[in-house]
Amino acid sequence: MKETDKEPFFIKEIREQPKVLANTLTKYLGPNLYLKMTRPPLDEATLRGVNQVYITACGTSYHAGMTARYIFEELSQLPTVVEPASEAGRHHLLVDDKTLAVAVSQSGRSSDTLSALNLAKARGAVTLALVNDSPSPLTEAASGYLMTLAGQVFTLSSTKAFTSQTLVLGLLAFRLAQSRGLMKEPWRQELENLGRVPEMVRYVLALEDRVALMAKALANYEQVFILARGALLPMAYEGALKLKEVAHFHAEGYSTGEFGHGPLGLVGPRSPIILIAFADEAGSSTLALARSLKARGAPLWLISEDGPKKDLALSSLADDFFPLPAVQPRLRPMVAIIPLQLLAYHLGRLRRVDVDNPGGLLGGEDWVQPDKSH
Ligand code: BG6
Repeated sequence: MKETDKEPFFIKEIREQPKVLANTLTKYLGPNLYLKMTRPPLDEATLRGVNQVYITACGTSYHAGMTARYIFEELSQLPTVVEPASEAGRHHLLVDDKTLAVAVSQSGRSSDTLSALNLAKARGAVTLALVNDSPSPLTEAASGYLMTLAGQVFTLSSTKAFTSQTLVLGLLAFRLAQSRGLMKEPWRQELENLGRVPEMVRYVLALEDRVALMAKALANYEQVFILARGALLPMAYEGALKLKEVAHFHAEGYSTGEFGHGPLGLVGPRSPIILIAFADEAGSSTLALARSLKARGAPLWLISEDGPKKDLALSSLADDFFPLPAVQPRLRPMVAIIPLQLLAYHLGRLRRVDVDNPGGLLGGEDWVQPDKSH
């Protein structure tokens, strides 16, 4: 699809992601340091002293944190807790001076996220802010900060900052692994492959017309479930949030494994299902679920890898198939979210929603207003 000046910022920002991701990699991915940052709290001594990670954020930024947890736990082998900032303090927060507390926020001024960061800080945690705007209340409050380099954001619903957040958090996990002497050779190969992420995202963006057709089909319904598992589950949540936020369309992200414990009762010809699944992780339970969905008459749309590793059993059951390029599993979330962002845009346009100002924001007390004293 050609870009034109009068197009909403929302779609322009979706299309900026290859450039944003390339800028992020150029800034942070170094030949021997996986996060070219050495000042506190990313200095070696601090990172070596960390024994758990606590990530807190709101909305889309929370979903970036959820996906990062899988990488932190595998690479840095640190227990990683991720919670919505609005929940911080509503339970006994087990955070101390050996905790790396990461507050993720595109604006750097979500008040819940600032409060959660200050709560962790009061318990002695080492605090790091990941923001797209500095100076901001979060960068002032944290011991140190990283930028997502997404450039200026003109829309309320985060897209380019989100994929950059996911990439930077992944690099932070690699950096923690490196500081803890846990880097393994295969992971170094993976880091080389990170350079392919912008090109993979560009490949998916080029399939926008197919997503526009999916949006036309979805417009005939009143709701959709988006199913995924593992590090892709936060993408199901994020895709559902985008559809609610930007298309005012009811969507629910759900764990593929959990869906058979109750929600299946809702499924019929009027409840389309978008399934994000890959041959090397789907397994027989996913295939059994897909068969059950079809037996109940549900339209089933599969987002999965195309090519030699295509899941032929699942794709033969699907009514529509969105082909993702072959990428290593750890990079799949950043690629799988792209068709869901585009789907929210096209469905929002069909439903005549102002996709740049969709009205989902609480506003007011939800944001820490710019400090006039500067
Ligand atoms: C919400 C927005 O108000 O704030 C979401 O509608 C956003 O799109 C969330 O993800 C968190 O914002 P931030 O700036 O802290 O990432």
